[in-house]
Amino acid sequence: MKGIVLAGGQGTRLHPVTRVLCKQLLPVYDKPMIYYPLTTLMLAGLRDVLVISTPEDTPRFEALLGDGDRWGMRLRYAVQDAPRGLADAFRVGAEFLDGDGCTMVLGDNLFFGADLSALLCEALAANTGATIFASQVRDPERFGVIEFDAADNPVAIVEKPAVAPSRYAVTGLYVYDGNVTRYAADLRPSARGELEISELNQRYLDERALTVCRLPRGMAWLDAGTHDSLLEAAQFVQTIEHRQAIKIACPEEISWRAGWIDDDRLRGLADAYPKGAYGDYLRALLHETPSGEGDRAS
Ligand code: TTP
Repeated sequence: MKGIVLAGGQGTRLHPVTRVLCKQLLPVYDKPMIYYPLTTLMLAGLRDVLVISTPEDTPRFEALLGDGDRWGMRLRYAVQDAPRGLADAFRVGAEFLDGDGCTMVLGDNLFFGADLSALLCEALAANTGATIFASQVRDPERFGVIEFDAADNPVAIVEKPAVAPSRYAVTGLYVYDGNVTRYAADLRPSARGELEISELNQRYLDERALTVCRLPRGMAWLDAGTHDSLLEAAQFVQTIEHRQAIKIACPEEISWRAGWIDDDRLRGLADAYPKGAYGDYLRALLHETPSGEGDRAS
């Protein structure tokens, strides 16, 4: 199973902030936004990841994240030359996927919860077909919403419904089997000119191969695509990090706790930040055992 972070798009809702810098490079409190979705894939155990972005921003992601080796990963990059929709990721990434299954996360989505890693690893291991993750929201009309039958099976995904059939919104995290490249190739642009991920999910649903994993209470799902949601996400991260003296979405910590890098490598990574709280945090980790507090890395 490979991973994709989709980090292109136009970010028009964040204009003028995103006129020259894409939103996934903006800070969410103390880290670039892309750290959050990238570490979600890491917590799912994925080390082979493709970052897709715009022609202007892809080199910036490459400068920020590198080839992944320092985190015991393999990061690669691909350009989406126009915002053709979320499902276009599987066309842009077809060569990278090479027929493999894939977990994709949107570059502006944050997931946080104590059991996130276990939930993701179990969902990936159990996946046959596609798995999407649904979160209960107050305002489902703004999202893709899942309709369930009386037996609680998904029957439809309705985009931004006037009357929502449930409170469960489709989040920006999707697991697909090796058919995804072929199914994405069959898609045609929608009325708004995009290759729609909801149509891809509908295809899996029609094939009776779509699983909906409901995020439990206490598992947070945030997106940071508007000025308010970006600020709220930053405040959420700040609150948890201050209160619990942990860092959310710290790639160095997650790879160290997973055993992808050793103490010496972590020490070297900390040395890249001789001043400031981030380096101090990495140095303090070396006084712990990697497996000591597994939930801290969520
Ligand atoms: P959106 O938030 O739906 O779109 P956007 O980022 O272009 O923002 P706006 O609506 O404000 O113009 O995109 C969700 C995520 O998917 C986000 O991380 C950007 C990314 N994306 C792409 O990489 N390529 C695309 O073609 C689209 C539509 C989105």
